[in-house]
Amino acid sequence: MSKHRGEFGSRFGFILAAAGSAIGLGNIWRFPYVAGDSGGGAFLILYLGMVFTIGFSVMVGELAIGRAARRNPVGAFATLKGGAWTYVGYMGVLAGFVILSYYSVIGGWTLAYTWATLGPLLDSSDTGKLGAYFSDFISDPTQTIAYHALFMVITIAIVMGGIEKGIERAAKFLMPVLFVMLVALCIRALTLPGAWAGVEFFVIPDWSRVNADTVNAALSQAFFSLSLGMGALLTYGSYLSRRERLPGVAMWVTSLDTSIALLAGFLILPAVFAFGYDPAAGPGLTFVTLPAVFSKMPGGGLFGPVFFALLSLAALTSAVSLLETVVAYAIDEKSAARKPATLAMGLVIFFIGVPSALSMGPWADIKLFGKNFLDLMDYLASNLLLPFGGIAIAIFVGWAVSQKMLDEVFGGRQTLLAKAWLWMLRTVAPAAIIWILISGL
Ligand code: TRP
Repeated sequence: MSKHRGEFGSRFGFILAAAGSAIGLGNIWRFPYVAGDSGGGAFLILYLGMVFTIGFSVMVGELAIGRAARRNPVGAFATLKGGAWTYVGYMGVLAGFVILSYYSVIGGWTLAYTWATLGPLLDSSDTGKLGAYFSDFISDPTQTIAYHALFMVITIAIVMGGIEKGIERAAKFLMPVLFVMLVALCIRALTLPGAWAGVEFFVIPDWSRVNADTVNAALSQAFFSLSLGMGALLTYGSYLSRRERLPGVAMWVTSLDTSIALLAGFLILPAVFAFGYDPAAGPGLTFVTLPAVFSKMPGGGLFGPVFFALLSLAALTSAVSLLETVVAYAIDEKSAARKPATLAMGLVIFFIGVPSALSMGPWADIKLFGKNFLDLMDYLASNLLLPFGGIAIAIFVGWAVSQKMLDEVFGGRQTLLAKAWLWMLRTVAPAAIIWILISGL
């Protein structure tokens, strides 16, 4: 079985691949704009609190399910328990379709900006001009669809290569370079005149701005950024050796992901204030402020394109985990071969993504609940499907699985951490998520 499905070569390789799934547009595109939109400091504290309590616990649970069952999300719930639980797996696969469809559109933006920053875009740090460039770009259907297509083609090609060759190799050499570049960018942004206002905005909580939406945004961002709640990490866990200790692995992934998000926050938000932009500007925030930062760096014309290329690659390692989940389902449950399954699923996802690619251009006026198509997909996935998946995973591991499986997670030791973890999954996490979902309505 494990030979047929493949297995990760080493603990280090697994951590990098799982971090590769977690670290992506969620950290560098989504986190800064949601933080900016949600008022900064208070959001940050709520976010960190959720990541290290609910997020970490659900991650250990999700990895445990995958490893115990050695299957895709649908097959995992079916073999471990069956019955209605199987639908949790289906919900995860559905979330994979939805998320990747618009994720690829944003991934396309990063590819486009790799070329764009090679040209005259970086001549000025005027956020008015950069903002106009951005809105021209996202409203051009030919470009957004073409780059969305390109992003999907690359994702499909990587997933066709299989688990070890494709994912592990890419993740191994990518993440450290991106990290170093982020640190350099952060230093540049923080030393811009006026940047300090951004730091204050980001770290000093303004509790008066906290409401049900802020709490909801923090929870959704935690699930999205950690790749939780849809079975992506469950699927990765299914390729993980039984010898690995899950809490250690999960702590590594959680910490790496969080440090990249924090770096992005200390880069984008200070830049927003230094260049007099609006922190609540929404999904364009990173794409408008980053070029402004590059334009103020010696060698920015080289730094910019390299950075966007690496960001595209980080987005690809996340996209790969999304597609891999859906493909693993087709391979395990429908006995499909990897290549045709990858191609078929990838094509379907591309088509679902087309309305998102048009949603800021020709279809910008088509709105449902006040949201365009891309925002609606993001809301459906991040604010509903992922938290529901999280509740289901918590309750499943907390109440439905065998004692033997629970013992495997902490090596049978009844440590304080093991007890706290189980208690989180049994009561705190489901209750908190349900409460947040209900107050959001
Ligand atoms: N976590 C990734 C990011 O931050 C996106 C992602 C990959 C994801 N796989 C996922 C989100 C599974 C939710 C579920 O960019």
